[in-house]
Amino acid sequence: MRKLFGNPKQIVTVNTNGKNVKRGSDANEIGILKNHSIISNDGKIEAIVPNDKIDKTEFDEIIDLSGKTVLPGLIDSHTHLVFSGSRADEFRRRLRGVSYEEIAREGGGILRTVTAVRNSSFEELVEIAKPKVEEFIKQGVTSLEIKSGYGLSFYDEVKLLQVINKLDEIFPIDIFPTFLGAHTFPPEYHSDNESYVELILNEMLPYIAEKKLAKFTDAFCESTAFSAKQTERILTKAKKLGFSLKLHTEQFNRIGGLDIALELGATSVDHLEVLENSQIQTLAESETVATLLPGVSFFLDYGYAPARNLIDGGAIVALATDYNPGSSHILNLHLIMSFAALKMKMTMEEIVSAVTINAAKALEIENETGSLEVGKSCDLAVFDADEFSEIIYSVGQNLTFMTVKNGEIIYRKN
Ligand code: NIG
Ligand code: FE
Repeated sequence: MRKLFGNPKQIVTVNTNGKNVKRGSDANEIGILKNHSIISNDGKIEAIVPNDKIDKTEFDEIIDLSGKTVLPGLIDSHTHLVFSGSRADEFRRRLRGVSYEEIAREGGGILRTVTAVRNSSFEELVEIAKPKVEEFIKQGVTSLEIKSGYGLSFYDEVKLLQVINKLDEIFPIDIFPTFLGAHTFPPEYHSDNESYVELILNEMLPYIAEKKLAKFTDAFCESTAFSAKQTERILTKAKKLGFSLKLHTEQFNRIGGLDIALELGATSVDHLEVLENSQIQTLAESETVATLLPGVSFFLDYGYAPARNLIDGGAIVALATDYNPGSSHILNLHLIMSFAALKMKMTMEEIVSAVTINAAKALEIENETGSLEVGKSCDLAVFDADEFSEIIYSVGQNLTFMTVKNGEIIYRKN
């Protein structure tokens, strides 16, 4: 099946010349083409050709994109999308000055959602999650990561991962499950944290590996959650079992998480709101992606990760929503892109690189998607815009016109 995505006003290829990553200042080169069209053949990009070289009789289908802007399909590489219940009441308390960490220490926060998730069936969780995945598809998202971490028992963590795998089956986009059993300590282990670590090490991780329920293992390395030592044990075991690694780290406190993640060759380190300048060089020189989550800084009203220093230092920077009920109840990747511009002083080009090729690298799919290069999947996000900066400038608006996954139109604005 040969298709022509014809005559858009602008194609943002994010061309990497085969490098499949945008490190440091390279992130400003996003390969913009005008007067070109995209040819897809059996779901892959066959060529991107000048409009005057096209013979329209050669195609099974022609999709006219006149006046539109085309980007690689967007990628959200960090979400906690599967959960039940609401924490609007905690939000209300935070507005009156109670902090996120205080609420967590009182047994609210993540544990509130854990109670709700434990009381929800597999089927209920799938139904709650579906419209949220649809919402991302309507934003041009073609690859999506989702973490467990609101079950915190063998049964409920496996249930969450099964829900995430089910969503991958239901939807045409690619959904990547991450095991986050080490999100926080469940109430039944409060006076015996060590036994919960043992449960993760000896029962959860081996079972999840054997059943291939997750691609990544993640943990929350923080003074209110897992210590550096506990994080190290969990990630080391996960690596041995064949998982790729991610880590929530340097969010509120620096307790050693970053060094452990770099030592173990983690695929990404996420958050980094309290990263210090002295920590930037080692991260910037590594292959580990720095995934920044400005929605959390906005939603919790605290500092932003040092995006400028990371990029200027040569790091691989990705952006993600961290969509979750407590610290970033923001189901909108475009809004995150606008925050990155306004609050972290990233350039429009760096932002595009951060939600395409670098986010692909954070999911280890950079050889298949994340840029419009010959041989890659024809994953497209098409916008009602003359040029790409309109997307970031139109804060809170959704300009998506069409979403294409593997050459198939999976969403079109009516
Ligand atoms: O990425 N940092 C830890 N976990 C989530 C928040 C989860 C929640 O509050 O429910 C985060 O910010
Ligand atoms: Fe998170």
